[in-house]
Amino acid sequence: MVYLTRVEHFNAAHKLYNAKWSEEENKAVFGKCCNPHFHGHNFDLFVTVKGEPDADTGFVMNAHVLSKIMKQEICDRFDHKNLNMDVEYFKDVQPSSENFVKVIWQILEPLITDCELHCIKLMETPRIYVEYYGE
Ligand code: NI
Repeated sequence: MVYLTRVEHFNAAHKLYNAKWSEEENKAVFGKCCNPHFHGHNFDLFVTVKGEPDADTGFVMNAHVLSKIMKQEICDRFDHKNLNMDVEYFKDVQPSSENFVKVIWQILEPLITDCELHCIKLMETPRIYVEYYGE
C-alpha cells in the first residue's frame, strides 16, 4: 500500500463561541478565538490517498487530478469565507478545525474513485494541526 499526499492552501475566518455560555466562560475556554469580530487562518490542507500504484502510470492517483478536486471542492468553496456566517453546516456546529476536517472528508470521500481516501490533515497554524481518518 502506497500513500500519496497533496497539499493545497486557503484562507478562512472563524470565531469559536458558545452562545449557551457567559462571556467569561467563552473567554476562559476559547481565549482570543472568541473575539467578536472573527479572526483568520492560513490553512494548509493535506489530503492523503492510498492504494497500489497503477501498472501503466505508476501512480496511486494522478496528483494533478487530486489537486484539481481539492481546489474546486475545498479551496474555491471556503477560501476567503467566514466559516460561521458563510457555511450552512457551521450555523449549529462549532467551526473548529476538528469539525472542519470532518466536513472536508464528507465532501472529498465520494470523489476519490481510483483509490481510497486515507487522511485529511488541516494545519491551522504552524503549531496546530488536526487529522481525520474517517472513523
Ligand atoms: Ni481560530
